Amino acid sequence: MRGAAEAVTKTHNPDLLDSTQEPPTKRAMTTMSQILRSDQDLAEKILKLKKERKALILAHNYQRPEVQDVADYVDDSVGLARRSVEEPDAEVIVHCSVDFMAETAVILNPTKTVLMPSLGARCPMAAMLPASQIDQWKRRYPKAPVVLYVNTLAEAKAKCDICCTSANAAKVVESLDSDTVIFGPDANLAWYVQQRTGKKLIPIPERGFCQTHVLFLKEDILLLKDENPQAEVMAHPECTPEVQSVADFIGSTSQMCTHARNSNAEKFIIATELGILHRLERENPNKTFVPAYEGAWCVNMKLNTLQRIYLALKEDRYRAEVPRDVARKAKAPLERMFEIANTSLNAK
Ligand code: 13P
Ligand code: SF4
Repeated sequence: MRGAAEAVTKTHNPDLLDSTQEPPTKRAMTTMSQILRSDQDLAEKILKLKKERKALILAHNYQRPEVQDVADYVDDSVGLARRSVEEPDAEVIVHCSVDFMAETAVILNPTKTVLMPSLGARCPMAAMLPASQIDQWKRRYPKAPVVLYVNTLAEAKAKCDICCTSANAAKVVESLDSDTVIFGPDANLAWYVQQRTGKKLIPIPERGFCQTHVLFLKEDILLLKDENPQAEVMAHPECTPEVQSVADFIGSTSQMCTHARNSNAEKFIIATELGILHRLERENPNKTFVPAYEGAWCVNMKLNTLQRIYLALKEDRYRAEVPRDVARKAKAPLERMFEIANTSLNAK
């Protein structure tokens, strides 16, 4: 776990500044110092409560900077799933992400309390594939296995053969003994996997997409490339095929972080949600990260704030829940994914 002192000293929230004020006025300066103080106070209170409640705070790479800074771990979706089972002494997991990731933690940790600081933090793409639709597609392609991206709700996962994340999707599909695979809900990730495996992927629904990642445009990236010819372009596989076609590296959010650390490049153009810039900059203080689009903001991820994390711990809210029979059925395809991806659930 990262140190409490580090978490407290790094808290800031520029988004809360009143943009109608003309800086630098005395009032704006006062507001800024009040915000800094209140974020720092909140972070200290969170860390105290966390200890008292034996809680683990997990944050996705897209979380606000100050939320990442109070977390024990910041990771991608598969990384957070793994982290959730690595701390046997933790009694409570505060999941700073969106609904499907918190549900995954419930499925993998049925005896623990999993809290979502904001109930409204729901992934719209996961909601594009209701469990009822999966049976229809299975009837249409009875021999094709069903692979579901973890960005699905638990009831949908319970109906699939194996789960995947963007970090292991190609490996999972490659491992299946079938040339045709039903794959949902992201049609762009399906395209990416089809290119890499040569298998025929049937996207369900036909045009499932992430509303944040479709905001990136190839034209914007090519212009940025002109201005920064040495920069490497990193994109998430939820981006459109056109955007993927101009990327030098495509991977999950944590794979991008690893690549940025290992690459010799000093500048990167980033085609994924803006929250990742905080981690990239923290881990690579001498490198430069240019957003491929300044408006790439997942409002659902950003619903988690320090105040809401504090209330979650103080008032034991909001509990993420998955009916027991659904959780039991959804656990098998998740475990199969960990087996195939050769990343044991308990592997560090
Ligand atoms: P990662 O698994 O790459 O973190 O992606 C999750 C997600 O929601 C991307 O939009
Ligand atoms: Fe869902 Fe897209 Fe937000 Fe990820 S970025 S949680 S896929 S809406």
